[in-house]
Amino acid sequence: MQEHKAILNAPWRDKEAENAETVPGKNDSPDFKEVVERGMQRRDLIKTLLSGAAAVAAGSQSAQAAASTGLTFKPIRLGKDQDYLDIPEGYEAGVLIKWGDPVVQNAPDFNPQMQNGATQSQQFGYNCDMITYHPLPDWRSNSSRRALMCVNHEYTDPQQMFPNWSPDRTTKDFVDAEIAAHGVSVIEIEEFYGSWHYNANSRFNRRITGETEMLITGPAAGDMMLQTTADRSGTRVRGTLNNCAGGQTPWGTFLTAEENFNQYFANRAQMPAGVNRDNMARYGTPTAASARRWERFYDRFDQVKEPNEANRFGWVVEIDPYDPNSMPKKRTAMGRAKHENASSTIAKNGQVVVYSGDDERFDYAYKFVTAGVFNPDNRGSNMDLLDNGTLYVARFNADGSGVWLPLVHGTGGLTVANGWRNQADVLIRCRQAADALGATRMDRPEDVEVNPVTGLLYIVCTNNTNRGLGSSPGTDAANPRANNRSGHIIEVREQGNDHAATTFQWGIFMLCGDPNVPAQGTYFAGAPREKVSPIGAPDNIAFDNQGNLWIGTDGMEAALGWQDAIYACVTEGPDRGTLLPFMSVPIGAETCGPTFTPDNTTFFLAVQHPGEGGTFERPISSWPTGSGLPRPAVVFVRKAWGRGVVGS
Ligand code: FEO
Ligand code: CA
Ligand code: CA
Ligand code: CA
Repeated sequence: MQEHKAILNAPWRDKEAENAETVPGKNDSPDFKEVVERGMQRRDLIKTLLSGAAAVAAGSQSAQAAASTGLTFKPIRLGKDQDYLDIPEGYEAGVLIKWGDPVVQNAPDFNPQMQNGATQSQQFGYNCDMITYHPLPDWRSNSSRRALMCVNHEYTDPQQMFPNWSPDRTTKDFVDAEIAAHGVSVIEIEEFYGSWHYNANSRFNRRITGETEMLITGPAAGDMMLQTTADRSGTRVRGTLNNCAGGQTPWGTFLTAEENFNQYFANRAQMPAGVNRDNMARYGTPTAASARRWERFYDRFDQVKEPNEANRFGWVVEIDPYDPNSMPKKRTAMGRAKHENASSTIAKNGQVVVYSGDDERFDYAYKFVTAGVFNPDNRGSNMDLLDNGTLYVARFNADGSGVWLPLVHGTGGLTVANGWRNQADVLIRCRQAADALGATRMDRPEDVEVNPVTGLLYIVCTNNTNRGLGSSPGTDAANPRANNRSGHIIEVREQGNDHAATTFQWGIFMLCGDPNVPAQGTYFAGAPREKVSPIGAPDNIAFDNQGNLWIGTDGMEAALGWQDAIYACVTEGPDRGTLLPFMSVPIGAETCGPTFTPDNTTFFLAVQHPGEGGTFERPISSWPTGSGLPRPAVVFVRKAWGRGVVGS
């Protein structure tokens, strides 16, 4: 399979290089690709001139950051078979909360032999993923060390959770415990006596589960494809499922994104042929039994009995953590997809923009631009902003330009004549609408986030080894590797640096892999391999206040043989591309939800699926308690005694 020519740096960066007066060997060639490649070489020269002798020659795993990166921690060594958190020297870590810990007042203690819906719906759920930090006023100091933390719970692993579990032996108690172990936990947290704690008695603490009633709002609310036996109105749904990443809005609500919702809904093959069965096929609901067999106990998970229930999942859900009685809202204006995340920013004129990836091989990157504008002085006026606006899907052109294609009924062929009933239909069958517009089919877009310092957007494509196989699409400029085991990261500049723009420029920021294996075709924003670590399967990202990119991985072992880790990466300046491993997680776990306190002195991480591959009877990890079952958990990391900014 031939590899595609990549756009290894974005057009604006090439211009920057061309405009630099000190650049030797300037050459004006009309051939764009040559220009791009020469631009890279020129940048490398500039970098050498600027950084002088600062480059430290070392093995890739012990790469040292030059002082100008702002990163001064001593990188860890990537691990294998380590059943602990590995953090840099001079740092300390602790567990904030773990699966089964009491969340709501008077919740029962965790007892792995006695799990059911009643117990689990009061306790911290399974497989924590996204983390957001919502400050609370602190009467003791001006710098708040008190906050509400929202954490979502992506999915359950019943083989690890319950004794003697198999699909055929599952029980109603197990199923109820699983449904309750999904969703969201809201907890109040505080830093005191040299550590972070959660307050098990806070009135803010809340569990939202796969059963919690929520509203369906926005243009698709009430549509016939959202109506069920239990809800003829098509506006009220029970629960949220498979919440992966998410985001925090400028008005302090939590956005949690429903990702692989398809897996819970059984028996597609027995549905009558037609638009809805084709729709479910595009989203990949199981043709026969589901893996967890919830349909044995609840009709809504059987697509023959409730053909529309799966249309009520795959949305971005908004939750107000400051109001424990508020009803969560599924915001349909942002489209139905396997949303990895939903990260928001504010455009130049005050419109709010939410970026999201649809994490599936050959699916898309999206953004939503609100019709209204953010009002920082009136929180209430922002609370339904996400119900009106325009959803776009990205097309990456081979010349480093790009277009946001609007998913608007009546335009771009999304017409009644072509089988699109209305805007609700476009949003519910969002993937098919994006197919029709000719959006670029990506290598599993995971997190999509804006660098708060530069305003540039980063789109993480975790991996895809199917490109070009069979009838699958071949490589393209934005997805340039056929056997993309290790994934890549794309850097985007919106036109005029305005997040509401409908065109953009882009370039590849990173082609992940082992820089010491040339056949992998890695690229680290132009950094020499001495300054980068191997990295595979990037997933969730976060930015610190300096604009450094923190990258968590999910699947390093399959890609490169090491345990999943968190890295810090320099995005601008002479050390752009420098990549240092900061911490790694226990056996079987992935790194989720990287989040900083606003002052960057604490870093939070969700350690998801520790011990994956083991069972209740034969666990392969005992993290974090050291005995018994592995327990997914949120951890905090900071400099010893909490003194200083994490990373620098
Ligand atoms: Fe749940 Fe795309 O990771
Ligand atoms: Ca995950
Ligand atoms: Ca993820
Ligand atoms: Ca992933």
